[in-house]
Amino acid sequence: MASPTPPSPNPPVNKPGAYDTSLRNRLAAVLPQGHRFGIHHVSTPPTRTEPLCPAPPGERPDKTYRESHFLAVSIHPNAPTISLKRASPGTDDIKQPPPRLPLLAFAIEVFIFTTAYQTILFVSKTDSTGYLHLLGLPKGAPSPIRQVCATFLAYLLDHRKRPNVQSIVNLFARAQDQYLFPGSIRNAGKHVLDDWGLVRWWCRVLNPLMEGLSCEKWANTKGYLIVPGLEETETRSFLPRTPSSLVNWTVGHPLEKISRYVRDFGRVPPRCLIPGYPDDPKSRFRDELDEEVSPRKHSIGAWKSVKTLDQFWEMMAFRQECSSGRLTGFIWLVFDSAASADVHPQPQPLPESSSAAKYKARRKKKKKLSGPIKPREPRIKTVLRNGLLDRPTLTAYYYWPSEGRGDRVVDEAEYKRIIELLLHLDFSTLDKALGSSRRWIHELGAPEVEVIGRATAPEKTEIHAAGITNLTGLVRRMNSKPSDAQLQPRVNVLGANLVRKKKKEESASSS
Ligand SMILES: CC(C)(COP(=O)(O)OP(=O)(O)OC[C@H]1O[C@@H](n2cnc3c(N)ncnc32)[C@H](O)[C@@H]1OP(=O)(O)O)[C@@H](O)C(=O)NCCC(=O)NCCS
Repeated sequence: MASPTPPSPNPPVNKPGAYDTSLRNRLAAVLPQGHRFGIHHVSTPPTRTEPLCPAPPGERPDKTYRESHFLAVSIHPNAPTISLKRASPGTDDIKQPPPRLPLLAFAIEVFIFTTAYQTILFVSKTDSTGYLHLLGLPKGAPSPIRQVCATFLAYLLDHRKRPNVQSIVNLFARAQDQYLFPGSIRNAGKHVLDDWGLVRWWCRVLNPLMEGLSCEKWANTKGYLIVPGLEETETRSFLPRTPSSLVNWTVGHPLEKISRYVRDFGRVPPRCLIPGYPDDPKSRFRDELDEEVSPRKHSIGAWKSVKTLDQFWEMMAFRQECSSGRLTGFIWLVFDSAASADVHPQPQPLPESSSAAKYKARRKKKKKLSGPIKPREPRIKTVLRNGLLDRPTLTAYYYWPSEGRGDRVVDEAEYKRIIELLLHLDFSTLDKALGSSRRWIHELGAPEVEVIGRATAPEKTEIHAAGITNLTGLVRRMNSKPSDAQLQPRVNVLGANLVRKKKKEESASSS
């Protein structure tokens, strides 16, 4: 819950009419014309969570909240393509067209971490079932997966914007056969991007957010890409080639630039700059370096073997996820809202939210009880209230407007149950995927939002600032498969200052 007396920032200004605020309409504008999609969006309210970055020694970590968002997209493929039972035995023709059953096509999970200083949209997982081709989209039509991922992130980014608070979209791209749809890899129709293709794909998905897909006005936007183990020129080849991408993207990371600890305290230990996301290779490395020093994390200042952030990234190249032919790309898009580009303003106190005021009043009235105990009349519950929705929309630490929430808002436990259920289903064949989709959508309990695509795109196109920009001919297509040179095992060369250290560690572990 929010602190009783939050030092709130200025309330975000909602601009109904300035742009389309509904996810449904924004998706309809980018999905292929005439095709029907089901949108299943579930989210949690902002809930207190562990801070992403450890605080410098002697300082308090930032109070942090987290919202979880899960967006799944289903299709309703044409009935004749589905192997359903015939109307009567011995009849070849299907007399009655069977109902069009929903079939999950892909999904994306996003966590929104917020503090008084930052809003971070962390893309946790994306996965597809491999049945999207059943829609029979024309060759060259924009990919619905790419369009939906980009539009969903832009939608969340816009609805969570707070004045004077920096917004960040962050992810690491690491290819895997399946993340969310068990068995889907056994479906021959599933297209799985390799590590190289995936890093390029994510840059291409995210680039439009800096080129106008986000409808909010930002004072400054910048994209960062770092691929441990790759040189700058190699990394640059992953970036999109739009007219403004040279200016918009930087090869490297923004961890010092976006850290409020650096802003407030100057030099801080590298461990205080590395966020701890679930299943993140760099968070895992951070934790291992912490263990080298002390099991009591709060007392840790500097690490033993890694002294600077540059060394940290250098060593990352030797981790399992970034070596022996594997590759992980770390991407950040940093959006500075007006006035936050240079100086971070002090939060302004604002009228307290109603729940905070009530809590404070109750605390004041509390006095020591004495005298005979008077039994209280039992109260009968007549209305079922969803306590989840009772929390304030705005505190100093988060902004939670009704726009940008899931069609069903659930608590963390229910959210976990819904995701766990998905991870226990089977998407390996069409029949199984249909059954699994039906079961999951039923258990989700959210109303299915139907979206009919309106985008006409006869040619290869890409979402761009001013609508759709045709980039055919401008873009030199990169082979999504790694080249022969890339397939060679990489020889990573350690920096001179790290070589001795590594040898020492190895000899220590072998003894
Ligand atoms: C990440 C993922 C969802 C993207 O889906 P996708 O279908 O590959 O994405 P797109 O529809 O945008 O297609 C990307 C490219 O592959 C091509 N493609 C899609 N399906 C194809 C197929 N069956 N055969 C050949 N090419 C195909 C598209 O035409 C597109 O080409 P382009 O870049 O020239 O336009 C998918 O690769 C996946 O499910 N991967 C497994 C899980 C995973 O690794 N997730 C990443 C988490 S960070």
